[in-house]
Amino acid sequence: AIVFILSNYFYVKYTIDREFYDKVRTIYKNIYNYKVSKIDLKHRIKSSKIGLDEINQEVSNWMDENDKQISNMIALEKYRKEYIGNVAHELKTPIFNIQGYVSTLLDGAMEDPHLTKKYLIRAEAGIDRLIAIVQDLDTITQLELDEVQLQITHFNIAQLIDEVIDSFELKALDRKVALVFHNLDPVMVEADKGRIRQVLVNLIENAIKYSKDENGEVRIKIFDMDDQYLVEISDKGIGIEEKDIERVFERFYRTDKARSREYGGTGLGLAIVKHIIEAHNQTINVRSTIGQGTVFGFTLKKHVE
Ligand SMILES: Nc1ncnc2c1ncn2[C@@H]1O[C@H](COP(=O)(O)OP(=O)(O)OP(=O)(O)O)[C@@H](O)[C@H]1O
Ligand SMILES: [Mg+2]
Repeated sequence: AIVFILSNYFYVKYTIDREFYDKVRTIYKNIYNYKVSKIDLKHRIKSSKIGLDEINQEVSNWMDENDKQISNMIALEKYRKEYIGNVAHELKTPIFNIQGYVSTLLDGAMEDPHLTKKYLIRAEAGIDRLIAIVQDLDTITQLELDEVQLQITHFNIAQLIDEVIDSFELKALDRKVALVFHNLDPVMVEADKGRIRQVLVNLIENAIKYSKDENGEVRIKIFDMDDQYLVEISDKGIGIEEKDIERVFERFYRTDKARSREYGGTGLGLAIVKHIIEAHNQTINVRSTIGQGTVFGFTLKKHVE
């Protein structure tokens, strides 16, 4: 009987062992994509080079890694769908506008020369809007793919600000917003002038656009900070709520307020601005009080002779 029990014991142990090592070996092979021989594995486990705890740990690491990859893929897919949805949505408004004016012209409005001109001007505005959206999409795609080569030179940022302010004169007058900038001395920075112009245009455009209907004022200031300059654009506009402030730099993100009042816009401006500043290894920040105003500030590298 003893012989029987013993042989049974060894048989069961042998089967369990074999089953166990086969399973572990499969898992191991999967993790490392690497063939581990039975003896080798047994040896490594026995010689306590790897214990069950470590195998457990490795399996669970591997599972975490897989989980991460899968959720990344799901996020990317969601992002792709949202992106296409957003683009289609943004293109719709100007396209339908253009279609409306052209149809009205063809349906008879063309007989009235005054109406013809009026509707053609409106159709043209729709086309300009389409071009602006496509250009912004193109810019953001290039920036996200890191395809943008900065053309770094040194230039006077105070003069560039003057130029940009001049280009907004009519828009500011129209919205009854005062544009204030006093800087007589040259302020030399090292950056890509064309891209920084884009940054200024977007920030000043926003500051005017999101001003309130009265007492609008947009101020631009330059602060000297050791080896950098800080450029601040502040407005006395509608402000941004706490919950939105982190998100305004995301592409297509627009606050409910911006949408509901129909200010017009795609939500790409600040995403482009942030990309450009980060490509310069500089920083941009925003602070705001709802109903009182907003300040956007970005840094630039000083040019030293
Ligand atoms: N100065 C500001 N004051 C208040 N809200 C602002 C200001 N600047 C930006 N925002 C908010 O941040 C959002 C994102 O700004 P962003 O410039 O990216 O998009 P947009 O102005 O709506 O459209 P566009 O693509 O034409 O610039 C705006 O929709 C608005 O809600
Ligand atoms: Mg904008």
